[in-house]
Amino acid sequence: MIRSKIAGIGMYIPSHVVTNNDLLKYMDTSDEWIQERTGIKERRYAHRTEETTTTMGVEAAKIAIERAGLTPQEIDFIVFATICPDYYFPGCGVLLQRALKMKEIAALDVRNQCSGFVYAISVADQFIKTGMYKNILVVGAEKHSFGLDFSTRGRNVSVIFGDGAGAVVLQPTEKENQGILSTHLHSDGESAEILAMYNPGTHANHWKPEKYADFDDAEIGEMFFSHKMIDNAQVFPYMDGPAVFKKAIIKFPEVIMESLQANNLQTTDIKVLIPHQANLRISQFVQQKLKLRDDQVHNNIQKFGNTTAASIPIALCEAWEQGKIKDGDLVCLAAFGSGFTWASALLRW
Ligand SMILES: CC(C)(COP(=O)(O)OP(=O)(O)OC[C@H]1O[C@@H](n2cnc3c(N)ncnc32)[C@H](O)[C@@H]1OP(=O)(O)O)[C@@H](O)C(=O)NCCC(=O)NCCS
Repeated sequence: MIRSKIAGIGMYIPSHVVTNNDLLKYMDTSDEWIQERTGIKERRYAHRTEETTTTMGVEAAKIAIERAGLTPQEIDFIVFATICPDYYFPGCGVLLQRALKMKEIAALDVRNQCSGFVYAISVADQFIKTGMYKNILVVGAEKHSFGLDFSTRGRNVSVIFGDGAGAVVLQPTEKENQGILSTHLHSDGESAEILAMYNPGTHANHWKPEKYADFDDAEIGEMFFSHKMIDNAQVFPYMDGPAVFKKAIIKFPEVIMESLQANNLQTTDIKVLIPHQANLRISQFVQQKLKLRDDQVHNNIQKFGNTTAASIPIALCEAWEQGKIKDGDLVCLAAFGSGFTWASALLRW
């Protein structure tokens, strides 16, 4: 039976450290509030002009490809997960293909927010299992710092997010005790607007009675982006934090248990759970609910904040580099985020 294994993994973290106290310059907040509610002490911001979502993805990819013993020219498919694309279109996948001088291979962008990396892994896994591709590069990268609301108005969102990238190379394996056992993907669009960035977009206030976009009263056009949207601060991410929290603490344990049950395994079999780094309080709640020991859960949100699609590959890479994951170990990846979408992947390293 063919499964996908992680043949190489890499991460890239920008060097610029932004502490909670650094944010006091821009907004009314405190180190105490941020640490108590989120667990975050500091995060990294990409260089304003020299680093983009794609360039960070490229750096993580180079390490993953080298660790897989490959060259970029041997990759046959790119799956790139992000919500901070360099361009509205085309996606980051083709920019990475160009930057790494790869062959004219397929490049797919995945837009599944915090679940983006697990969705991307699942997509890649299907292509490996069918035999269509043999060396797939899966990237999660985000440059959130380019467009958060750094005034007090946006503090509930902006203190949470950070920049960075992670990447893996998936390859086929026929070894009994290795590879992705299963992936589980879910969505519920009922609450799509409670964690979202509405503009720029084509919605024209169609979906909800709330006015998310003030556009100009023209016969055609003028709706995608307007001066009024900028003046009325409609160009930033929006989050109803408590509502996200409530749903996340239900769906995280559910999707982790789903992956274990699908493989007749128990929580005690998990060597390391890599939860999407949404909020340390969420991870702690999940750990408690599933009765996992501290050494079974890897968190690093304290240092990097929430890096959306990049958070799982960064945490996975860090855990592996620290020697917490060895051959044959059972690893569970689990994510929840905007959409809502949530997902898990269970694998033997
Ligand atoms: C965002 C989050 C940390 C807010 O914590 P909370 O305890 O729910 O706080 P609330 O939003 O109810 O706000 C409580 C108070 O803190 C204030 N506040 C919000 N952000 C603040 C900040 N950065 N600094 C100081 N005060 C802040 C609010 O204005 C509010 O003040 P009020 O009581 O005077 O109105 C929390 O809801 C959360 O983590 N939710 C999940 C978010 C998440 O994981 N997002 C990523 C999804 S993948």
